[in-house]
Amino acid sequence: MKSFVIKGDIAFNETREKIKTLENGYLVCVNGICKGAYKKLPEEYKNLEIRDFSGQLIVPGMTDLHVHAPQYTFRGIGMDLELLDWLNQHTFPEEANYSNLEYAKKAYSYFTYDLKRSFSTRAVIFATMHTDATVELMDQLEDTGVISYVGRVNMDRNGGVNLEEESAEVSLQETGKWLDRVKGRYARTFPILTPRFIPSCSDELMQGIGKLSKEQNLRIQSHLSENPSEVAWVKELVPQSTCYANAYEIFDTMGNENCPTIMAHCVYSDEKEMDILKKHGAYIAHCSDSNMNLTSGIAPIRKFMDAGIHVGIGTDVAAGSSMNMLKAILNAIQASKMYYRLVDQSVKPLTFEESFYLATEGGGSYFGQVGSFKEGYEFDALVLDDSKMYSMRDLTVRERLERTCYNDADVVIREKYVQGENTFHRE
Ligand code: GUN
Ligand code: FE
Repeated sequence: MKSFVIKGDIAFNETREKIKTLENGYLVCVNGICKGAYKKLPEEYKNLEIRDFSGQLIVPGMTDLHVHAPQYTFRGIGMDLELLDWLNQHTFPEEANYSNLEYAKKAYSYFTYDLKRSFSTRAVIFATMHTDATVELMDQLEDTGVISYVGRVNMDRNGGVNLEEESAEVSLQETGKWLDRVKGRYARTFPILTPRFIPSCSDELMQGIGKLSKEQNLRIQSHLSENPSEVAWVKELVPQSTCYANAYEIFDTMGNENCPTIMAHCVYSDEKEMDILKKHGAYIAHCSDSNMNLTSGIAPIRKFMDAGIHVGIGTDVAAGSSMNMLKAILNAIQASKMYYRLVDQSVKPLTFEESFYLATEGGGSYFGQVGSFKEGYEFDALVLDDSKMYSMRDLTVRERLERTCYNDADVVIREKYVQGENTFHRE
């Protein structure tokens, strides 16, 4: 049943800067689409079933715009390393295990079990370079109720003996086979082209991916300007490029507004790189937990937002240590405060409202009208029980919401709806 009303304490961003709240409000879902949030239930919806969550918070579902499924089981390990050492010592050896389908089945079951119970209703996910394991991940994801894009990773250089495809040609052939296998197979799980990053992909491979994206209108995700050594390496690998983003542009992999590319990190993206991201309608996946763990730096998110670039939040597990989007909202605020204090006092920290926006509608817009309770949006909603977080004050809904992000362990998810479907209790 995808037409109903839920009642509770509703909060969502009306704009990037402002959260609208309704204490004891009604949120209407008709055929999976939000028909608005109301103080008093309009007459026309009186006949719909009312599900009563009085006293609980109702917020939009969250979009994790960048997460690595095969890294989930080693999260929180190797965190004293910087990016390139962390990849070589921990990530690549772990991902090589996914050539074994039984290993992949088990490890991905841990990831999908936790994703299903997380605050995320949408996710954009990296798998590994292994086709069978990637299809297995997609099969498992389809059952979580979460709507996702999933990428079989392309990498034909610098992965070491066990995590490198034989050639650009083989990598592209395998990608074609994978696309054939998953085409039309799912209702909620979609393929996305995933060249790992420039150091992992030869020029020939990057060109092939650019071509495939254009021919089949397939979206692309990758990494951009995460770490100083990585940025310098890319300049060596693509000497004709004017910046890292231009290297992607040269290979026709930056996408466009209708087929937007997601770039994770952008810690070192300057004005020139921002112009390229903006011109192509790209999305930046801001992963501040990861950027702190790997000593990468702090991305100037306010600058990106002010420039009109699309921004969402990614957890970037396992460089980020958790898939928890409430924690990611908090980390983004804290990182922006340190950028303001230590780097540039003309760049004001993110407000709570702005960070909440990035996690909901900011990243949600990658999937269409997603991440808000404005009329016409897809009905992705979370019912959060904060009743065990005691207070001696009478709190507003806005205050309760803020403190759930600062104390995520004390919050229980009671229901999770995606496109109006209750994913915890399938009808
Ligand atoms: N750059 C290339 N691969 C990766 C990865 O797996 N994680 C992170 N954080 N950055 C990358
Ligand atoms: Fe990543």
